[in-house]
Amino acid sequence: MKKAFRISIKILGIIFLLIIIVGLGGYWYINSTFLSFEKDYTENSDINELTIDGYTFLDRNGNSKIDIYEDDRKTTDERVEDLLNQMNLEEKIHLLKGSGMASAVGIGNTAVPGAVGTIVPTPRLGIPTIYLSDGPAGLRIAPKREGEERTYYCTAFPIGTLLSSTWNTNLVKEIGTAMGTEAKEYGIDVILGPGANIHRHPLCGRNFEYYSEDPVLTGFIGAAMVNGIESQGVGTSVKHFVANNQETDRNFNDVIVTDRAMREIYLKGFEIIVEKSQPWTIMSSYNKVNGTYVPERKDLMTDILRDDWQYQGLVMTDWFGGDNAPAMIAAGNDLLEPGTKKQWKALKKAAENGTLSEEEINTSARRILRLIVQSKKMQNYQYSNNPDLDVHAKIARQSATEGMILLKNEQTLPIQKAKNIALLGVTSFDFIAGGTGSGDVNEAYTVSLEEGLKNAGFEINQASKKIFETHKANHKEQFIKPEGFSAMTTPYIPPRMTYTETELKEIVASSDLGIITIGRNSGEGGDRVEVDDFLLSEKEQNMITKVCEAFHAVNKKVVVVMNIGGVIETDSWKTQPDAILLAWQGGQEGGNSVADIISGKVNPSGKLPMTFPINLNDHASNANFPMEGGTLDMLKMIFSSREEKPEHEKIKNKDYTNYEEDIYVGYRHFDKANLDVSYPFGFGLSYTTFDLSNLNVTMKNDTINLMVTITNSGDLAGKEVVQVYTSKPDTKIDRPLKELRTFAKTKSLNAGETTSLTLQIPVSELSYWSENTSQWVLEKGIYSIQVGTSSRDIQLKMEVEMN
Ligand code: BGC
Repeated sequence: MKKAFRISIKILGIIFLLIIIVGLGGYWYINSTFLSFEKDYTENSDINELTIDGYTFLDRNGNSKIDIYEDDRKTTDERVEDLLNQMNLEEKIHLLKGSGMASAVGIGNTAVPGAVGTIVPTPRLGIPTIYLSDGPAGLRIAPKREGEERTYYCTAFPIGTLLSSTWNTNLVKEIGTAMGTEAKEYGIDVILGPGANIHRHPLCGRNFEYYSEDPVLTGFIGAAMVNGIESQGVGTSVKHFVANNQETDRNFNDVIVTDRAMREIYLKGFEIIVEKSQPWTIMSSYNKVNGTYVPERKDLMTDILRDDWQYQGLVMTDWFGGDNAPAMIAAGNDLLEPGTKKQWKALKKAAENGTLSEEEINTSARRILRLIVQSKKMQNYQYSNNPDLDVHAKIARQSATEGMILLKNEQTLPIQKAKNIALLGVTSFDFIAGGTGSGDVNEAYTVSLEEGLKNAGFEINQASKKIFETHKANHKEQFIKPEGFSAMTTPYIPPRMTYTETELKEIVASSDLGIITIGRNSGEGGDRVEVDDFLLSEKEQNMITKVCEAFHAVNKKVVVVMNIGGVIETDSWKTQPDAILLAWQGGQEGGNSVADIISGKVNPSGKLPMTFPINLNDHASNANFPMEGGTLDMLKMIFSSREEKPEHEKIKNKDYTNYEEDIYVGYRHFDKANLDVSYPFGFGLSYTTFDLSNLNVTMKNDTINLMVTITNSGDLAGKEVVQVYTSKPDTKIDRPLKELRTFAKTKSLNAGETTSLTLQIPVSELSYWSENTSQWVLEKGIYSIQVGTSSRDIQLKMEVEMN
């Protein structure tokens, strides 16, 4: 007995020891491969200031002389060349990949905890670490630091889709400026955004980070964002270049697409952004295009981006993106993020055996050095860690209000008399600020709809509030929001509510108006699904029907607020409520912004950046899109082999996706197929009305110049968006019936006020991409210029002739 006991103890001891050894070994492996493997390349903080001949500079390499790269009176090019000459090959290779994930997961010494990536410092030359962090809706860094009382919260601005719904490039630039300031003051050098992928299909889980189904809207808004952020000396990383339109198997998915669809739809938004804003960086996407990983495609990384578009900045991978490190550098993807030891070894080996030439290494290192030299870090900017979050909250509120879209309004809004408002549905109380994953922000607070309405002076109905509170108390666990890393991978979906007839009676009797909020959330790593997500759940449908019936029975009105990040079905229920406000996810001030519109403090002026279809299947892309949803599998993303599967094992819409709809994405398809939609691209109501008149079109120097008069013909001040589409009626090829070419938003026009807008379209923008000759071709003859306030509300037309 005793002996058996001793043996068991021994065995247990050995197992325990093995677990510890495996655990320590595993930690050592992960730490030295992925987290922190640049022990000899840590930032040199021992740099002295010197004054020589009356000029003060930082003697970064400690040689007591002024080197060209230390002298900020020299041009960026001169400084970069000097640095490149002074660096040895090994130092240059170190630049080509980040230093691992340590800062992102809060391990080790890092100046900015939570920053997801770095550019490696060069200690010998006193070159600083450059910090990179997400993302499109505001900066994402760790809000708390060990041993510190104070917090490092950031402003949650509205999601990208809401920003494009403003159709207001000046406003978006202002938001970008605020984001850039915030990054600068928290010591971040590059914001990993904006997102410029096209909404190919409504269920892409990351559509909320992106702008539109249309490349021109994407390009104009994206460029405004880049110009805003970069005005602060902080870089951007426009992502995910290119054709990353689904999250399902995003690290392996092969997009099968024509050159024409690439040029006219998927690349076009990026092209406009490069032309209008020359972003410091672009982030290549995870997916393959026609069989090859994007960062390994020289045609995309160099021929198109650099040669065709004259892009001057650097390209970095998405996190752990691509497969073959030297092939990525050779193709023109300059920086591998967040960097792994495996990549370091592969690059070093390739440099040694000549598969990667010194010239190729220099080309990428030069682009990276250019960013470093331009950065605030290199100017020794002393960041305050105290951005003005109050000012930024105001900008967030104003922009959210401007991007919300009034879809329906039957003499209901703005609320005139109602004092007591009944809030229905979980989301009314648990408002959603933004999507999940890397597009999320760690903000200090989120104003819920309830708080927003209270702030605006409304009373919140206590009967409906009590029912929500009981519901929440009964489902405590499901109301706990995942935080930190698990917020990236675990969706937060609190259970929905129903109301009994008695409850509804009490609510209706004690309130003046009902607001139902429909909430949706999604994020990185998974796509949405049709049932209970695109389509309303049975509970939600019942809630809308029952609530509308109960309120209407006593002549009281119901408003539906959609607090969503992507398109949902609206056609089957939109007749029931009296008003529908598409509030999107408005960032931390979302509840206040909705209240601003509902109360009439602000007249809505948002317009849809995508079509709301009747059925999902009406989208041509629906024939080729993964419909199963899913969440992010980090381990698969980092560790899975990128080896090509045999043809017969490949699964449609996972291993590969056929973009069979070609250029017919969004309204281009709905118009061509003559399909009814629930709400068309460009649509959005106002509390006032506008008239367009006096379209004048002239041609000068290969540019079409338009002038149009716009009058506020209603009773309230408001803004309107003028949208210009073109078509080629007698085209010899297959072309969309209408394509957005430019747009402009008026300032706030008082009732009766008239203004005129001038807009321009370069003639070259009327070209199509010829598959036969691999170039842009301008068809001769008549083009129709169509001006309206949505893609299906064209009010003025004129023709121009191209010879
Ligand atoms: C996302 C990027 C993001 C990066 C860093 C990736 O998983 O796809 O958009 O910038 O992580 O967080």
